[in-house]
Amino acid sequence: MSAVRLEHLTKTFPGGAAPAVDDVSLTIRDGEFLVLVGPSGCGKSTILRMIAGLEDTTFGDVVIDGQKVTDWAPKQRDIAMVFQNYALYPHMTVAENMGFALRLRRRPKPRIREQVEDTAHLLGLEEYLERKPKALSGGQRQRVAMGRALVRRPRVFLLDEPLSNLDAKLRVSMRAELARLHQRYRVTTVYVTHDQVEAMTLGDRIAVLNRGRLQQVGTPEELYLAPANRFVAGFMGSPSMNFATVVLHDGDPVTMSLDGAVFPFPDVLRRCPDLAGRFGEEIVLGLRPAAFSLAGPDSAAVVEAVPLGVEALGDEKHVLFEAPHGGGAATSGDPGDVPVAVDESSVSRLWTAKVQQHAGLAIGRPVRLALDLSAAYFFDAADGYAIPRREPEPVAAGVSGAGG
Ligand SMILES: Nc1ncnc2c1ncn2[C@@H]1O[C@H](COP(=O)(O)OP(=O)(O)OP(=O)(O)O)[C@@H](O)[C@H]1O
Ligand SMILES: [Mg+2]
Repeated sequence: MSAVRLEHLTKTFPGGAAPAVDDVSLTIRDGEFLVLVGPSGCGKSTILRMIAGLEDTTFGDVVIDGQKVTDWAPKQRDIAMVFQNYALYPHMTVAENMGFALRLRRRPKPRIREQVEDTAHLLGLEEYLERKPKALSGGQRQRVAMGRALVRRPRVFLLDEPLSNLDAKLRVSMRAELARLHQRYRVTTVYVTHDQVEAMTLGDRIAVLNRGRLQQVGTPEELYLAPANRFVAGFMGSPSMNFATVVLHDGDPVTMSLDGAVFPFPDVLRRCPDLAGRFGEEIVLGLRPAAFSLAGPDSAAVVEAVPLGVEALGDEKHVLFEAPHGGGAATSGDPGDVPVAVDESSVSRLWTAKVQQHAGLAIGRPVRLALDLSAAYFFDAADGYAIPRREPEPVAAGVSGAGG
């Protein structure tokens, strides 16, 4: 069992203008399952490869159990890695594939057999030990690849999108299996994915990366409820958070203007005291799709939407519509100017509302959507950093909120 510390880890590839990994400092605790998540090309695999020793660092250090290993060869580090495109040896049986690393280390044969059988048992692979990989399903092959890495009981286990080759259903069951495996062994694990659902369900903690820079590290709940910036807010949660540029005005009550409409916003300062210093200034409002509902006669904040798309998902529907003017909260035109704390992909002209199943929803038919402003997030319009907000007081169990 081991803790891994990354200290100012930086990687610039020859010819690369911006660093692929930019001053990343992070501690992965002993026995922790940490998920490294971020869009394609943000530096996830490069970080794993530097931890494993497969890639030199340009600057900074990798420290395992208090020992600086930055200059150690990969095999001295006692780390196992399962790659994005794992490959099994086709001419070897499952048992031989799994025992390969131990044979290289010249362990005694009975010992190898024992460790292979142990691991195969844990992964439900006992009955396949004498088969060749081509006689296995995708999920079984994936289990063998993990078994091969785990069999030598490494200090640290690195997984780079190990489930990306599997179909959706198999991914879900392998996810559960991975979680169980980790419960059992408690090997310090770093798991890379670009899939935020995978990150939310697997990680003890999640580290979010964008363009080589660490954005935030926290539990899945912390990242969802208290994103540090617009990038994290837009990345965690599906469908993504909706953004718009708004202005708050002092008064009783405080009001918010969005696309020419003015909404009362009575309790906004209680939720976000810092907003008192920003009246009259453009700020970015963030609303998750679940903060919308079909408006009733008494709804305080309503937007008129013409659905451009309606996606029926069982008992809820996703309604896509053109964002109110100021939606998308676009930064300046050049994508190179977008701050790292802003998710370029979220600078969208479309908003998504998640509403309960409703027969009247149809493409092109106008609908009135109520905004639950108590669920609003706010961000600085220039740099994308979150303006802190307080979570609502939890409602005591068994006590009805009505009439209070
Ligand atoms: N050997 C290399 N030489 C030059 N540039 C590289 C090299 N390896 C990676 N890069 C660049 O470094 C950046 C980070 O790459 P990396 O593979 O770490 O991304 P990633 O987050 O794993 O992406 P994905 O989700 O697509 O696997 C990318 O811009 C990539 O093009
Ligand atoms: Mg990668």
